[in-house]
Amino acid sequence: MHAISFARLAACALIAASLAALPAAAQEPAQPEATHSRAAEARRAEARHFMAVAAHPEAAAVGRDVLAAGGTAADAAVAIQMVLGLVEPQSSGLGGGLFALYWDADAATLESWDGREAAPQAADPSYWLDAEGKPVPWWDAVKSGKSIGVPGALAALAAMHESHGALDWSGLFAPAIALAETGFPVSPRMSASIADALGKGLGDFPVAAGYFLDAAGAPLAAGTNLRNPAYAETLRQIARSGPPVFYEGPVGFGIIDAAAGGGGVLSEADLAAYEAVERAPVCVDYRGYEICGMGPPSSGGLTVGQILGMLSHFDLAALGDGPAAWHLFAEASKLAYADRELYMADADYIDVPAEGLIDPQYLAGRAALIDPTKAMAKAEAGAPPRAPARAPDTDPERPGTTHFVIVDGSGDMASVTSSIETGFGSRRMTGGFLLNNELTDFSRAPEKDGVPVANRVEGGKRPRSSMAPTMVLKDGRPVLLIGSPGGSRIIEYVAGALVRILDFGMDPADAVAAGHVICRGGAVELEAGTDAERLAEGLKALGHEVKSADLNSGLHVIAVGERGLVGAADPRREGAAFGG
Ligand code: DON
Repeated sequence: MHAISFARLAACALIAASLAALPAAAQEPAQPEATHSRAAEARRAEARHFMAVAAHPEAAAVGRDVLAAGGTAADAAVAIQMVLGLVEPQSSGLGGGLFALYWDADAATLESWDGREAAPQAADPSYWLDAEGKPVPWWDAVKSGKSIGVPGALAALAAMHESHGALDWSGLFAPAIALAETGFPVSPRMSASIADALGKGLGDFPVAAGYFLDAAGAPLAAGTNLRNPAYAETLRQIARSGPPVFYEGPVGFGIIDAAAGGGGVLSEADLAAYEAVERAPVCVDYRGYEICGMGPPSSGGLTVGQILGMLSHFDLAALGDGPAAWHLFAEASKLAYADRELYMADADYIDVPAEGLIDPQYLAGRAALIDPTKAMAKAEAGAPPRAPARAPDTDPERPGTTHFVIVDGSGDMASVTSSIETGFGSRRMTGGFLLNNELTDFSRAPEKDGVPVANRVEGGKRPRSSMAPTMVLKDGRPVLLIGSPGGSRIIEYVAGALVRILDFGMDPADAVAAGHVICRGGAVELEAGTDAERLAEGLKALGHEVKSADLNSGLHVIAVGERGLVGAADPRREGAAFGG
């Protein structure tokens, strides 16, 4: 614990030294040190001026420190991501991608940033087919070098920093560099994730095995002090030289070599061509709020928007938090997922009828298919305005992502979902960080009966995501920031929490802790061992097949009210909310 405290204090001194003057908010005394033993106390926090909520206390605390030193939400996002890539490496990092919503307080505008990984230009629709034309098995695809897309997280963070940063770029890397050099205690969750990945072949990857396993080949135990000098060196280079050292320099060459080692075809030209893209956010009205999210290549904003758009035709508050309301939620979800599988993908490559999918009249028609007294047997995709002919993508998605939310002292805000796809990504490492396997988020089958799948692979295309960084606006200003990891269940983790907060009036901390109800088309999944299981009999009586499941969300929220900020971290993970 001493190592952590010392590392962060040293890093904060570096940040503070890079500042000429501090705004009023920065004069507030900082919160006490974050440690794992304090994590539970930090799952819900209130603050007046600024706040950061992230999946690890060190990351949230570094975010808080950057904000206390007068940094913007963009500054804190850079510092938080660099720390998460160290202390929660299984979930996100330099080797992955992200989507971010950013509220610019001065301009009163909402931006969305696409830092999603891109396929190599050499890829084509047969990318995931074997010699006989059959899709390669999912795990084989994950562990091959072909699963690695051009990482976009750094480009997106640099673009946000360029537009909105107040602090010097290089100082933002200091906390993570100090922690990587001094070491940090492996968290219980990280240790358990290593054990899980070891059962799925982590030991076959020498660089990852050398870092994540002990001398006897066992997973690093929780509490082990872990140093990462290679990561510190990578960060030092990026701090000094900026993104070019990654996209056109030695860090990137390491990525290309690591991919090539597993049959990947990423090229220097692919990395050099990568750009984070600012896109228009996707917004729908819900009970007098605007729910804004990430558009294609994520399906997150559109699918959350569809679910809520359909539910706006029912009075959930009057029904209350019971089987009748969650039946409607399950039915709306089923219908939304059917559209998602058919229509949603990277709109730079394929015609996505995005406006039609959230068109109020179209959603009214979809809502009319929902019978409040009976579950529909099978939800079919609809025909939104300007719908092209498509075959559905039914590829599964699996764990390995993180979400963080930030409000700074001058009112800028960020809601960021960041991922390397499955836990430990492709398992291939370079420069002290793991590389993503995000290209397995493409449909491995390019067509069905001659009809193209929207989410098929194409050179330079970005795979469809479910990531759903979200901001809820009231009277044109954000009142809630939310998002989660969880693969394709992200959409319902977010939509469900919004229903709990906006319809049932729950406190954000209670809403993120409540048991999940998920229905992506088949059975309704109720989170095992939680209050959600009380819904089983009622849902069965309405005709649903019901099963119990481990539903591992990581919902992180900040509610922005007139009297200040309320932050909440999902109790299923190790996160914390810190403010000032
Ligand atoms: O982009 C996506 O939707 C997935 N690659 C996200 C994976 C994920 O959330 C894993 N979560 N625990």
